[in-house]
Amino acid sequence: MAYKVAVVGASGNVGREMLKILADRKFPVSEVVALASNRTAGQKVSFGENVVLTIQDLALYDFTGTHIVLSSPGAAVSAEFAPRAAAAGAVVIDNTSHFRMDPDVPLVVPEVNPEAIAGYTKKRIIANPNCSTIQLVVALKPLHEAATIKRVVVSTYQSVSGAGKDAMDELFRQTRAILVNDPIVKEQFTKQIAFNVIPHIDAFMDSGETKEEWKMSVETRKILDPKIKLTATCVRVPVFIGHAEAVNVEFERDMDAEQARQILKSAPGISVLDQRRDEGYMTPLEISGEDSVYISRIRDDPTVENGLSFWCVGDNLRKGAALNAVQIAERLVKDYLK
Ligand SMILES: NC(=O)c1ccc[n+]([C@@H]2O[C@H](COP(=O)([O-])OP(=O)(O)OC[C@H]3O[C@@H](n4cnc5c(N)ncnc54)[C@H](OP(=O)(O)O)[C@@H]3O)[C@@H](O)[C@H]2O)c1
Repeated sequence: MAYKVAVVGASGNVGREMLKILADRKFPVSEVVALASNRTAGQKVSFGENVVLTIQDLALYDFTGTHIVLSSPGAAVSAEFAPRAAAAGAVVIDNTSHFRMDPDVPLVVPEVNPEAIAGYTKKRIIANPNCSTIQLVVALKPLHEAATIKRVVVSTYQSVSGAGKDAMDELFRQTRAILVNDPIVKEQFTKQIAFNVIPHIDAFMDSGETKEEWKMSVETRKILDPKIKLTATCVRVPVFIGHAEAVNVEFERDMDAEQARQILKSAPGISVLDQRRDEGYMTPLEISGEDSVYISRIRDDPTVENGLSFWCVGDNLRKGAALNAVQIAERLVKDYLK
């Protein structure tokens, strides 16, 4: 069977990557529809090598007959349109934060909790987790199975593409302005991002943590295990694509660096590059465009019982967003929409 697929947010960073990945992985489509706001309706986007799609206005689109919607237009837009698409019979795989913690919406990373997809029938909506959460839980899952995780401390180094295409433009323009001595313009970030790091992603909460930090902890518990304690510090860095994370984990049972290395090497979705020498680790620049979550710098943490530290890097537009959504769609058609 082939499926009519609509990509909502098709002019954006994640939407364009979704179109590319659908074509690259030869997802069985009967038709692909590109949707965005009326600002870009009428513009063209590529689907694979030879097909050019004209973007249509989401507000005017009738979802009747559309099987699957891959969506990334921002939380407020998803909140409004996704129930409308679901009511018309489509299954919506949504990348925004809006539905993630809804108990009637599965939150899925196919390497971690593919069985949760079955819950899509309640609302015909499946949520894609936050980009930083996805790469983290891919790494934590096989380690948790082996030795049960008690507590995680994670610091993120998140690229500007995680904040959308306008944020990438801002890093480019500020960098150029500094080099040619022009004034700096700040619109997307609260502080200058060029030649700087900003410990602030998403809104501040009453607890003092940011919503991005809160998302990492609640989403990890929903996907992996409600008993895991997780504390995060999320930082925006002047990198275009690719999120990095310094991760420290405490286990209930024995775990050491060599055991962790062997477990991670054979786990799905993970590549280990961990050589204790110059250049023997991965950085965001090298993994842009890759599908794997890369793990490096695996080492014991002798300051706690059964402690482990590692470095984790992933392409936030691919595994952190578009690839994960397409993998969910692949499972959906294989196991449920046959
Ligand atoms: N980037 C990441 O790493 C990442 C990872 C996971 C989840 N997400 C989530 O995915 C969403 C989009 O991220 P992005 O990086 O792709 O942002 P982006 O590059 O800024 O693109 C936003 C997209 O949403 C569309 N859009 C905005 N308002 C709309 C409306 N009223 N109706 C229809 N379409 C509308 C835009 O269309 P126009 O061009 O017409 O305005 C554009 O296609 C966000 O919710 C983000 O949190 C992003």
